[in-house]
Amino acid sequence: MNFSMPVIKTKTKLTEELNKLSHKQDLGLVPTMGALHQGHASLIKKAVQQNPNVVVSIFVNPTQFNNKEDLDKYPKTLDSDIELISSISDKIIVFAPDVDEIYPDTVIPKIFDFEGLDKVMEGEFRDDHFNGVGTIVEELLNIVKPTRAYFGEKDFQQLRIIQKLTEIQNIPVEIIGCEIVREEHGLAMSSRNERLSKNIRQKAAFIYTTLKTAKVKFGMENAIAVKEWVINEFKKVDDFELEYFDITDVETLTPVQNKIKNVKYRAFIAVYVEDVRLIDNIALN
Ligand code: PAF
Repeated sequence: MNFSMPVIKTKTKLTEELNKLSHKQDLGLVPTMGALHQGHASLIKKAVQQNPNVVVSIFVNPTQFNNKEDLDKYPKTLDSDIELISSISDKIIVFAPDVDEIYPDTVIPKIFDFEGLDKVMEGEFRDDHFNGVGTIVEELLNIVKPTRAYFGEKDFQQLRIIQKLTEIQNIPVEIIGCEIVREEHGLAMSSRNERLSKNIRQKAAFIYTTLKTAKVKFGMENAIAVKEWVINEFKKVDDFELEYFDITDVETLTPVQNKIKNVKYRAFIAVYVEDVRLIDNIALN
């Protein structure tokens, strides 16, 4: 296996590399912030299956962090990231620019109108987070011009916002959502899981277990009752602090109270454990 895969640092070099590829062939893009795990691996594998050419970007995007400490603590593991990427395919193009390359003048996000999708849940607790995500994803889509771009459903709100971004900015790309990959005990895979102690990491399966029971309950009760039940479950445990739990319409992400026939719903949760903020979600119907 070849672990000495070249890493492209500049937009000019990336464009040169992309120009060498056949324009008739599909191109997949997997944007990441590095610290890659099996969740990312599943996105990259899907991209490789669906496209003869694939770009994986690794860039810890400062404009989507509302908390400086979170940004500073974000793990940077380029060598093992490259190892994981090259174990999937050694033909993948890795783009890992520095902050100056992406933000040469100011490190501030563009402001988008995501038609309210960014105002709920994560948007309520993380100021400007989705403007930052929109800024970097638009930039990457414009540089790479992929046929398809891949995002995990763990960040389902982000996925919906990126779909909206391509619609409002008229970017011709197919956005592919990929299923959540879980650790053995059920915790959704995330780079942040590394910051949890071993014991708590196992116990954090509680988040997914609660979501699964909420799903069953939503088959029998309305969203308010399910939300109350979840809030109470979290009051019973010491190590977990619930930030939000919401059941929303999948399209609008508006929290709902009662079910309407033929509408698709999803439950979303954010929890603090050992000062680490974890999110997860589950399809309800
Ligand atoms: O999901 C992530 O890792 C990031 O938000 C993304 C999409 C790579 C943009 O920085």
